[in-house]
This record gives sequence, C-alpha cells and structure tokens, in this order.
Amino acid sequence: MMLQMSGVHAHYGHIHALQGVDVSVQVGEVVTLIGANGAGKSTLLMSLFGQPRASAGRIIFDGEDITRLQTHDISRRGISLVPEGRRIFPRMTVMENLQMGAVLADPANLHVDLKRMFALFPILEERCEQRAGTLSGGEQQMLAIARALMSRPKLLLLDEPSLGLAPLYIKKIFQTIRELNRDHGMTILLIEQNAHHALRAAHRGYVLQHGQIILSGTGKELLASPEVRAAYLEGGHGAAGK
Ligand SMILES: Nc1ncnc2c1ncn2[C@@H]1O[C@H](COP(=O)(O)OP(=O)(O)O)[C@@H](O)[C@H]1O
Ligand SMILES: [Mg+2]
Repeated sequence: MMLQMSGVHAHYGHIHALQGVDVSVQVGEVVTLIGANGAGKSTLLMSLFGQPRASAGRIIFDGEDITRLQTHDISRRGISLVPEGRRIFPRMTVMENLQMGAVLADPANLHVDLKRMFALFPILEERCEQRAGTLSGGEQQMLAIARALMSRPKLLLLDEPSLGLAPLYIKKIFQTIRELNRDHGMTILLIEQNAHHALRAAHRGYVLQHGQIILSGTGKELLASPEVRAAYLEGGHGAAGK
C-alpha cells in the first residue's frame, strides 16, 4: 500500500472540512477523488502534508506513519504535489522552474531527469529559456507537472490539473497521466471536478461530499453509477461550469 488515510478529520477554525475520510492508494494505481467545489478535495491533499494538520485519524505513507511529521519531512519521503492553479514561478524561465523542482533531488540526476521531462513534454524544451509566465495555461500545467516529477516522487498528487484549460490541453494532460502510470509506473492521486475524464483515466475513484466519502468503486463502476451520473456527469451541479 502506498497511501492509507484512515478516519482523517481536518478543520479550519470552526469549518469541519474533512469528517473522517478513508482513502487508500496502492502502488501503481491511479486513484481519483471527485467532488463539487468546496467538498474538501484540496484539503484532503494538503492534509497529507500537515496543512491543515489532521485533528484525528491516521495517515500511513509507504509503510510509515506520517500523520505528525513536519511538512518538509513529508515531501522528502517522496510525495509531490501539483497544486490547484499550477503555481509555477512566472518570472523564472522554464528551465529554472524545473531546477526548483529538483532542489530536494540528487544533483547527479538533474541532467537525465531534464531529458526525461523534455521527452514527456517536448514543448518545454522548445520554451526552455522563456519566462514561465509567458506560457499558455496548458503549457504552464505541463511545466507544473514536470516540476513535480523532478523530485522523483513515489506518489504524485494532482489538484484539478484540467481546470480552465482548452479542450486540446485537457486531452493532453489526461494522456500524460495515463502514460506516466502505464509506462513509468507512477502512482497518482488525481483530484478533479472533471469527473468524466478523471474516472476514465483512473483505476479507482472516490466521491467526496461535504468532507465525507459517499461513494467509492472502480472508475467504470462510478461512471455507470446513477448517483455519479446525476450529480457529477450530464450537467449535474458538481460539474457546474464544465
Ligand atoms: N485556508 C482556508 N481557510 C478556511 N477555510 C478553508 C480554507 N481552505 C478551504 N476552506 C474551506 O474548507 C472547505 C473545503 O475546501 P476545499 O478543500 O478547498 O474544497 P475543494 O478543493 O473540494 O473545492 C470549504 O468550505 C472551504 O471554504
Ligand atoms: Mg480545490
């Protein structure tokens, strides 16, 4: 088991954002967490890093209890996050952004890892000396993913990678997710409001509502589930704006 969250609660002041969630990710899996805006998806990812700290429950990563570890110790253990809204460094070049992703990595790997990223995203090699802020939204998302991969994580966390992207880039991002998993064995926890794409790309999925897991199953099962269809596909409220 790569990740096991059991009975995890988290709060922001009086807001009870996670109310006892059980989520697991096995080695080599793509797992998706879908849910409406405000359901607690980002909180769940951030709670893995202790931001906010789980107020109850346990988080086991790669055989070790990380519930009370410091954020930087957790990152060092091999969890890498592509945050909501990408958060690349706009004034730095593409290359500098990638180097920032490698600060925790062995410098001896830098060259070969850059080559791997450019093979995955050839556009980043073309744009290598360009300031990251001048890239299109889709290119910035690719850069954010590549930057996260530069630390050679065991578990990659993606927070709404398709949000606000043009359809062509959405397709490319989900292709990349499949390719990373299938060809590179990357274990991925993917958060999305775009339930259709996410469930098709994932082995398994969970539905989060008001801080609670209300459904789980294989991607296929959830795609076929009447509740998921009504709420998150076919223009349901959870898919608002999609
Ligand atoms: N930094 C914060 N401070 C206070 N409340 C927050 C903060 N971040 C999120 N929340 C609240 O926690 C709940 C879950 O938010 P979030 O995890 O961002 O949901 P999602 O990612 O599913 O849209 C929401 O009610 C949101 O308003
Ligand atoms: Mg969010």
